[in-house]
Amino acid sequence: MTRSKVPHIALIGCGAIAEEYYLPALASLPEIMENLILVDENPSRLDKLSAKYPVRRKVRDYREVQNEADGVIIALPTGLHALVGVEFLSRGIPVLCEKPLAEDAARARILIEMAHQKETELVVNYLQRIIPHFAMVKQLLASKTFGSPLKMEYVIGEIFNWPTVSGFYFKSDPSTRGILRDRGAHAVDHICWWLGGKPTVISSCNDSFGGSEAVAHVEFERDSCKGKLVMSWFADVPCRFSIECEKATIEGEIYDYQKLIISENGRKREMIVESPIHTKLDVAREIASNFVAVIQKEERPLVCGSDVLESIEFTDEAYEKARLMNMPWYRFEEVQDVA
Ligand SMILES: NC(=O)c1ccc[n+]([C@@H]2O[C@H](COP(=O)([O-])OP(=O)(O)OC[C@H]3O[C@@H](n4cnc5c(N)ncnc54)[C@H](O)[C@@H]3O)[C@@H](O)[C@H]2O)c1
Repeated sequence: MTRSKVPHIALIGCGAIAEEYYLPALASLPEIMENLILVDENPSRLDKLSAKYPVRRKVRDYREVQNEADGVIIALPTGLHALVGVEFLSRGIPVLCEKPLAEDAARARILIEMAHQKETELVVNYLQRIIPHFAMVKQLLASKTFGSPLKMEYVIGEIFNWPTVSGFYFKSDPSTRGILRDRGAHAVDHICWWLGGKPTVISSCNDSFGGSEAVAHVEFERDSCKGKLVMSWFADVPCRFSIECEKATIEGEIYDYQKLIISENGRKREMIVESPIHTKLDVAREIASNFVAVIQKEERPLVCGSDVLESIEFTDEAYEKARLMNMPWYRFEEVQDVA
């Protein structure tokens, strides 16, 4: 950190994630908030958020803060992460980038390499890793408490209701893709992290006719473990995971952060994971305070760019291998006739 003891941070992109998480989390760090710069091309977002949170200043073009910011949080639509991230990293400015780090692994590598070259930090918000029950799964698998994993299932079924400002999630833009690139960033990261590396994609299908997919199924394999990831923005089904290991099965609900169910020797028991992290806002506070400490060179990033590269490679592979899923309720010929 160079210019002042309290870093000047620019929050680039003042959409839904900025409003729901970053600003409430940064509000618990008043000195940081006083020096915060809001950046968004949409002036009504700047007016709305600065009315609620008094900040240092607000600007519409991120290039205006290149000589002022000690660190930037990139909360822009996914297709802009690499472009904007490189501009700051190349000036040696630490970046905290929202997930997915980039629209593909090639761009993620450029960001990681630039941070390395400029000896600065690329922090990534893949901090579902610090949610207690997910972290406990990692610990149980890494220590082989129940032997090696044999079968993994990860299911996300939630109707899309995120209050996006730009609506970029459903723009027919290949940089965004759909549920697998977006919501799947956390799920795929868990899978790669839990298994100790990138699995091979065995099969992949989705419901895309060219635009963003809303349903995706991916089968994968790593060492002795075969797995399946099922994701849908159309179906409201329990979001959960299960991992069958040699000696027991570990199960959890995605949003029940403190609890795992362990089935062993024909009996089920609860494993409660004690932690001060109970909500997404608790996670956001951890992200914010870690990033400030990273800028001040007092802490290492909780999760950095290179930690998540394999998960982006897995996602790329799943898109490359994807075929149109079987949708017997949907007659493709009729759609073509209409078009
Ligand atoms: N970590 C998580 O769990 C999580 C949850 C939701 C979103 N996200 C990620 O956060 C990022 C932002 O998502 P969101 O839902 O907040 O998006 P959003 O559509 O709500 O907001 C995007 C904002 O960026 C602004 N913007 C667009 N182009 C710009 C430019 N060139 N310069 C300045 N501002 C510009 C828009 O005006 C808008 O206010 C995405 O990458 C998304 O994947 C992560």
